[in-house]
Amino acid sequence: MKTVEETPKTVIRPIREDDLSRFIEADYHQTGKRREAYWQDRFSHFAHRHPLACLVAEDDAGAMVGYVVGDVRGWEYGVPESTGWIEAINVRPDLQRAGVASRLMDQLLGYFKRAGVKQVYCVVDWEQEGAIRFFRSHGFRPGDFVFFEKEL
Ligand SMILES: CC(C)(COP(=O)(O)OP(=O)(O)OC[C@H]1O[C@@H](n2cnc3c(N)ncnc32)[C@H](O)[C@@H]1OP(=O)(O)O)[C@@H](O)C(=O)NCCC(=O)NCCS
Repeated sequence: MKTVEETPKTVIRPIREDDLSRFIEADYHQTGKRREAYWQDRFSHFAHRHPLACLVAEDDAGAMVGYVVGDVRGWEYGVPESTGWIEAINVRPDLQRAGVASRLMDQLLGYFKRAGVKQVYCVVDWEQEGAIRFFRSHGFRPGDFVFFEKEL
């Protein structure tokens, strides 16, 4: 865990129209793939539906250090109408374990509560031990659904 001195000041703010290129860059750094069409589609879909559920963490120089993309929807899988979905949460590798994702999560959960959400879902890879621990540390537990897959 980083000390306070090692952790640059971060500000959490709602997503802006000009963040699209930052999302593409952040994703590129994480995956090695530049997925412009994919992010354009995601951006227009999620950011315009619930801008207060899509949050950016930036340092004092204005660089994006993390983000969370959330949504409120329902009916899929028979879940109630107002369900909160965490589509993605991500923090720059060199700034992890400094509480950035926790701040994004707290702010998102606050928004979900105000929007009347009672249940929050997120799909996480079992292999991503750090992410599993992160969600557990925020009170998330494995849910009732099973994610089936089949190779074709
Ligand atoms: C998961 C992720 C968002 C966590 O971001 P973060 O800013 O490092 O998280 P925080 O510093 O707020 O961590 C809060 C707590 O979660 C737990 N935690 C977070 N990352 C952990 C790790 N790698 N190993 C073990 N525990 C971890 C710890 O309990 C931590 O508290 P502590 O540091 O006081 O022990 C970050 O690791 C990440 O971007 N991973 C890649 C993307 C991803 O897997 N996203 C999730 C699926 S969408």
